[in-house]
Amino acid sequence: MQILLTGGSGLLGTELLKLSTNVLAPNRNELDIRDASAVAAYVANAAPGVILHAAAVTNNREIEVDPAAALEVNIKGTANVALACLGTDIRLVYVSTDYVYKGDRGNYAETDELLPSNLYAWTKLAGEAAVRAVPNHLIIRTSFGASKFDYTQAFADKWTSKDYVDRIAPKILKAATGAVKGVLNIGGPRRTIYDYAVERNQEVTKVRLSGSSLESPVDTSLNLDKWDSLDD
Ligand SMILES: NC(=O)c1ccc[n+]([C@@H]2O[C@H](COP(=O)([O-])OP(=O)(O)OC[C@H]3O[C@@H](n4cnc5c(N)ncnc54)[C@H](OP(=O)(O)O)[C@@H]3O)[C@@H](O)[C@H]2O)c1
Repeated sequence: MQILLTGGSGLLGTELLKLSTNVLAPNRNELDIRDASAVAAYVANAAPGVILHAAAVTNNREIEVDPAAALEVNIKGTANVALACLGTDIRLVYVSTDYVYKGDRGNYAETDELLPSNLYAWTKLAGEAAVRAVPNHLIIRTSFGASKFDYTQAFADKWTSKDYVDRIAPKILKAATGAVKGVLNIGGPRRTIYDYAVERNQEVTKVRLSGSSLESPVDTSLNLDKWDSLDD
C-alpha cells in the first residue's frame, strides 16, 4: 500500500524512510502543508492508501516566544491534510505527543484526561481534533529522541516512556499500516530521562528537575496496554 509521508526530512521521517520503500515523501518545497489547495491537489494525484502525517513545528521553546509558525503548520496544516482525506478512503495517521497528557502522575491510558503542558502540545492536540474528522484515523501519542543522547546532563526525577527513534519508528510504521484506529500510545518502558540517556551515553550526569527553573511535567509515562494487545 502506498504511504504518503509528510515531514520526511525530520528526525522521525528520516528513520521511517530507512524502513520502507513504498513511501512517497515530498519535501517542504514539493508539498508545503500550509497550502490547502496544494495539499488537496497532491493527495488527489498521489491517491495514497495511508497518509502518515509527521510534519510539524516542534521546537517548543521557539513556539512559546513566537507561536505563529506552529499555528500555521501544526493546526492549519494538519487541518489541510485532514480536509484532503474527507470523502476518500485514505487512512490518516497522525503523530502526536505524550505532552498532551497532564504529566503529573504517569501511566496515561489513551482515554485519560488531557491537559497539555506547553503551547507546542496544545497545537498538537488541536491537530488531533482535525484528524478525528477523518473516519479511518489513527492518532499516535509518543515520545522519541535521536539515536544517541547528545546532551551532557539528564533529569533523574522526570519520568517518561520516551525511547530512541530507531525503536519508535518501526512501531509507528507497524501501527500505521495495520488496522488499529482511534488513539494509540507508543513508547518504551517507564524510566527516568537519566536512565533513558545513560543507556546510550555513559558520560551523561544526573541533574534534578526539582532544583531547576524549568517548568516541565514530572511524569508523562504511557500506559501501553493497547499497543501490547495488538496482533503481531
Ligand atoms: N521528537 C519528539 O520527541 C516527538 C514526540 C512526540 C511527537 N512528535 C511528533 O512527531 C513528528 C515528527 O517529529 P520530529 O521530531 O521528527 O520533527 P522534526 O525533526 O522537527 O521534523 C519536522 C518535519 O516537518 C517538516 N515541516 C515543517 N513545516 C512544514 C511545512 N509547512 N510543510 C511541510 N513540511 C513541514 C520539516 O521539514 P523541513 O526539514 O523542510 O523543515 C521536517 O521534515 C511531529 O509531528 C512531532 O510533533 C515528536
